[in-house]
Amino acid sequence: MTFDKKDLISIKDLSASDINYFIETAKEFKKISLKDIKKVPTLRGRTVVNIFYEPSTRTRSSFEIAQKRLSADSLSISVSQSSVVKGESLKDTILNLEAMNPDAFVIRHSESGAANFISKWTKASVINAGDGINEHPTQCLLDIMTVMEEKKEIKSLKVAIIGDICHSRVARSDIYGFSKLGADIYLYAPHSLLPRLIELKNVKIAKNMEEAVKNADIIIMLRIQKERASFYFIPSIEEYRKFFQLTPELLSKASAGVMVLHPGPVNRDVEIAGSIINADKTRIFKQVENGIAVRMACLYILLRFQKKNKNK
Ligand code: CP
Repeated sequence: MTFDKKDLISIKDLSASDINYFIETAKEFKKISLKDIKKVPTLRGRTVVNIFYEPSTRTRSSFEIAQKRLSADSLSISVSQSSVVKGESLKDTILNLEAMNPDAFVIRHSESGAANFISKWTKASVINAGDGINEHPTQCLLDIMTVMEEKKEIKSLKVAIIGDICHSRVARSDIYGFSKLGADIYLYAPHSLLPRLIELKNVKIAKNMEEAVKNADIIIMLRIQKERASFYFIPSIEEYRKFFQLTPELLSKASAGVMVLHPGPVNRDVEIAGSIINADKTRIFKQVENGIAVRMACLYILLRFQKKNKNK
């Protein structure tokens, strides 16, 4: 199996077999994280630049750990300490870093399309670590990996995605990824937080929480994206809790083997009852663990493709 793209920008661009290839590779890399010495020389001599224009705990730290475990040389640009604060544009920032001959950029940005934009200005591979409300492809891959560790296949699973879907890049990537693998997706959100266009035929809009979670195999809960001004889209947090919170009672209506996912950060007792977070049906910390393996796989696959092309 090969992957013939320079960048990982969008799950929309991947085929089902591409997704499976990333997951199978991640499963192999996960074994390294379970050893005493968590390091292999796979990317020795390769340079990765992480640029996060938006805050991150999970994605940034797991990319950094992935790079260390693969022996890559990496640096993380702190945007608040960079010349971005002096007004340097995204394009000029990339052109200057490009002059240092990196092999990959990992970028998070508040603008949808930022990762795609910078890929035009660099020969290095670009990994989208979240662009605005557009996509978060590595989050989708780690979500799929987490499910695949327990379910034989994704096909025909009922996947409920609940919360601020409109502003969620995770929702968008998960909708594309799980639907490419044949899941039946149910979305539920306040009307004002539903995307206007959902064109995929295996995606339905649930009428209420009960319909969304009833017999669900996977429930993906999403926080309200306060930073994208979503509070103006709902009457109040109290009302949101009442109609959109995943409670133990609602969870009991899901299938017996249900897995609850959340990309984080979690707003305890807003979108999800605090008591569910550490309960046996929740896989939030497994998702974080798998994030390292998925990011190791992404770096490996893209940089291997790059090396092959350089050698042509
Ligand atoms: N899931 C996720 O993207 O979390 P961070 O914002 O902490 O990276």
